Amino acid sequence: METISFARGAPAPELLPLEELADCAETVLAREGKTILSYGAGAGYTPLRELIGEWFDVHPGRVLLTNGGLQGLDLLARKLARGNTLVCEWPTYDRAYKLFLQAGASILVATVDDHGVDPVNVEIALVGQMKAAFIYVIPTFQNPTGTTLTDERRQSLVQFLRRRDMLIVEDDPYSLVRFEGEPLPALFDYSGKTSVYMSSFSKTIAPGLRVGFTILPDKLADELAAEATDTYITPVLLSQAVVCEFIRRGSFAPNLQRVNEQLRIRRDAMLAALEKHFAGATWVKPDGGYFIWLQLPVPADAREILARAQGVAAVAGPEFTGPVNCIRLAYSYAAPDEIETGIERLAAAV
Ligand SMILES: Cc1ncc(COP(=O)(O)O)c(C=O)c1O
Repeated sequence: METISFARGAPAPELLPLEELADCAETVLAREGKTILSYGAGAGYTPLRELIGEWFDVHPGRVLLTNGGLQGLDLLARKLARGNTLVCEWPTYDRAYKLFLQAGASILVATVDDHGVDPVNVEIALVGQMKAAFIYVIPTFQNPTGTTLTDERRQSLVQFLRRRDMLIVEDDPYSLVRFEGEPLPALFDYSGKTSVYMSSFSKTIAPGLRVGFTILPDKLADELAAEATDTYITPVLLSQAVVCEFIRRGSFAPNLQRVNEQLRIRRDAMLAALEKHFAGATWVKPDGGYFIWLQLPVPADAREILARAQGVAAVAGPEFTGPVNCIRLAYSYAAPDEIETGIERLAAAV
């Protein structure tokens, strides 16, 4: 029996625009191969920094390009988290949490409910804390819960953190992967573009390109670019030039539309299968992104269930520091016609 994977937060192979990327790579190599095959700036390929600067209406000097968004977070964690206190959502993205632990941070948590992280929980987490380095938030289609922070909460969170003079680090790789509903302003917008905003082209073009970006306050941008140079000299310029070409020639929007249509079919297949096979459990319907957070009636133990399950894989809540009765289901990778079988197999193990 072949395993159906709901474990990987990765796009299905058919979502990747292979031919178009091959053509972009050929164009870029022919046009500027000798430059992009050399070392360059630690902050990355200048035309893409300029393009992202235009998108977000910020100076390109504030845009740091890294090998995936995660590398930007690593640089930031090493710079700001060491020996400091920070706040994370609970549950949160496992790899980010590990980076903060590796950096030696003390981590406070604020619980996420069906509408994202509650600002009141952030306030409670910070009681008695004189100085916390930053808060790490994934406001839209959160990993792992798939939830989205409401507009009202976005505004009150930013206001509260401004009063405390505390930096926001907003991780936003999924907001363009929206199938329905109105896009919400980013925390970055509500902060007057003073907070840290990070995203990547992993979910909108292809994760293997490893092109991520972080928009930072000026001084921090310079410091992290210097740290990047000292660590790996230059990020992968060829990938960044390919992404830039892909956008400049007008392929980004139609590709995103195609990807979102395909993902929507997968999400709908998973929601329908959950309705059919998981009476008594709860979940939030996401308007986009990759994930559904399945909450099983207590005292279910997701780790035991997943160990028992045959021919299906997913990730248990504790991997994301979350509750043991929860399972993160990624609908991004499996084929639409496999999804119901995978959910049925999971239900059989409960
Ligand atoms: C919330 C979040 N941040 C960052 C990343 C890392 O993405 P990248 O491929 O850009 O490093 C992921 C990947 O799944 C993610 O879910």
